Amino acid sequence: MLQDIERVLLTQEEIAAHVAQLAARLTADYAEKDPVLICVLKGAVNFFKDLVVQLPFHCEYEFVVASSYGGGTQTSGSVQLRKDVFTDLRGRHVVVIEDILDTGLTLDFLVAHLKTKEPASLKICTLLDKPSRRRVELQADYVGVTIPNEFVVGYGLDYNEHYRNLPFIGILKPAVYSHP
Ligand code: PRP
Repeated sequence: MLQDIERVLLTQEEIAAHVAQLAARLTADYAEKDPVLICVLKGAVNFFKDLVVQLPFHCEYEFVVASSYGGGTQTSGSVQLRKDVFTDLRGRHVVVIEDILDTGLTLDFLVAHLKTKEPASLKICTLLDKPSRRRVELQADYVGVTIPNEFVVGYGLDYNEHYRNLPFIGILKPAVYSHP
């Protein structure tokens, strides 16, 4: 697995620092709001579990499963919601927790979907933001780090369902996805 990585973009320590900063910002804004934190599976799983343990206030977990990339490096353009939330979001403060905001298609779809549930507020928290690839007008409210237009894997992010278990975020060697 490691031989497929061209270089490390964010080390474990750098990721931890960004997660801690985001946790501090969420604490400042949500400490009294008992928010519903929605983890967008599968990619956000590592980020979510590291983030929530740094929030010293009441909150609820929720999970949605959304995907659009299939097995490749390019989005299919069509987002599939494979699992919805169970919690009644009406009147609740909701924060969607994502690993990466890339074209924006996934979050654009999810935000529209979640708004139909009439939350009191709905914000986006993403560890990574790749604004150069955006295909819809969408900005996250909380961004860990803005990254260049490289295909990244690790810390939950996959290529062909692999590499999610890397503890760092790395750039995949183009040869890996050019000649699978
Ligand atoms: C990835 C990632 C985000 C989305 C971002 O999910 O976890 O949810 O792509 O890309 P976008 O801004 O271009 O929509 P993916 O569809 O690969 O599913 P996964 O979370 O199961 O890996």
